[in-house]
Amino acid sequence: MIEFENVAYSYGGGELLSDISVKLAPGSFHFLTGPSGSGKTTLMKLCYGALLPTAGHVSLFGKDVRAMDRDDIAMIRRRVGVVHQDCQFLNHLPVAENIGLPLTVSGRHAETGGDDLQELLSWVGLSSRAEALPPELSGGERQRAALARAVIMSPDVVLADEPTGNV
Ligand SMILES: Nc1ncnc2c1ncn2[C@@H]1O[C@H](COP(=O)(O)OP(=O)(O)OP(=O)(O)O)[C@@H](O)[C@H]1O
Ligand SMILES: [Mg+2]
Repeated sequence: MIEFENVAYSYGGGELLSDISVKLAPGSFHFLTGPSGSGKTTLMKLCYGALLPTAGHVSLFGKDVRAMDRDDIAMIRRRVGVVHQDCQFLNHLPVAENIGLPLTVSGRHAETGGDDLQELLSWVGLSSRAEALPPELSGGERQRAALARAVIMSPDVVLADEPTGNV
């Protein structure tokens, strides 16, 4: 599903990541640990095509990230749910709308009538905070909302960057 072949990455200074070869297969579960600044978030960004490797090859769902066009990138957005380390909400929109944004953007909100959204809000224990704005949430509430947003499209892969630090 996600495959790295001799991958290296550098932001322009020295080489941050080098010679990484790994296959993440369907149904598998992986943890990545390492000190602050060692490149964990960078490696995750390579896993969903937000960064391109400076050497080697990354393929997602069988396609090389360097050969991806707009449609391929849209496919990756649908199939990979990401819980960002800093959550990345739109602060002027209520929590429920932030979580439902992937449905709205992809035109699937009408299809589900919002049932998925209510169910997810309840799953992460945020039903009573649905109308709050992101800056009004606690750290753990923000992470739970980010988790709900990552899974609302029923993605094939969930990439979570320290999703439980505040939970
Ligand atoms: N956009 C960028 N431009 C230049 N350097 C960057 C950029 N993003 C990250 N870095 C640097 O690359 C290194 C790895 O960063 P990264 O965010 O991948 O680390 P991390 O392992 O996720 O750390 P943490 O545990 O603190 O989240 C750090 O030294 C960071 O300062
Ligand atoms: Mg990080």
